[in-house]
Amino acid sequence: MRNILVAGNWKMNKTPAETNEFLQILAEFTKSNQHPEVEVMVAPTYLSLSGARDAIADANILLSAQDVSKNINGAFTGEVSAFMLASLPVDMCIIGHSERRAYHQETDETINRKLQMLLASGIKPIICIGETLEQREAEETMEVVITQLEGCLNDVKLATGDEIVIAYEPVWAIGTGITATPEQAQEVHSLIRRLLSKLYSNEIAQKVLILYGGSMKPTNMDELLSCGDIDGGLIGGASLEIESFCKMIEIAIEKKRGV
Ligand code: PGA
Repeated sequence: MRNILVAGNWKMNKTPAETNEFLQILAEFTKSNQHPEVEVMVAPTYLSLSGARDAIADANILLSAQDVSKNINGAFTGEVSAFMLASLPVDMCIIGHSERRAYHQETDETINRKLQMLLASGIKPIICIGETLEQREAEETMEVVITQLEGCLNDVKLATGDEIVIAYEPVWAIGTGITATPEQAQEVHSLIRRLLSKLYSNEIAQKVLILYGGSMKPTNMDELLSCGDIDGGLIGGASLEIESFCKMIEIAIEKKRGV
């Protein structure tokens, strides 16, 4: 059985002090609320990563960056390399988020380069893919998702499947309060797993965690996690409040305990 990953993407929210305060409470919470098959991850801004590392030093919480440079080092003002993230250390890194695709013109080729940098630095990438509303309405969802995933994984070798995480995030569901129905999400998740099986092997495909993202919250998490190919969530808005994030961790634990 695959683990459940409960991943908070904080985007451009929380100062270092706010991050610290949140993580101290979360660290305490996770000491008494844990399950060997439930992983918890937070992605604060670059500015807060170092303080966050200290705040969760004794806790079983994974630390993620929200982006990384596609370059190794040098004259790239404002950028942070995979090697620098690894030196902290950071465990994971989100790449290809639809906000980066939309506001920073990131292409699958750029994301592929970032992916290669992360893998070479030992950081686990969370690769985001997903269709816009126009693409869904034009019935292009499957084609878009296949193209994005093939582009992102171009020339990427996987040994076990444990090296990467994929997040299916329909753009029309991100930050809108509209969530994909479990059927809509499962349909795409199972397509992603079939594609991984074709690109690699069934064994590898069965190992890769595929998260759902897009207005996941305590009230819809349980039914989404009930789908066979949904292995957790990449959670924006609902991860910013400690109560709702802890609630979502509880829901994942209950799911694993079969409650
Ligand atoms: P949301 O964001 O949960 O606020 O919709 C998810 C994401 O963008 O990763």
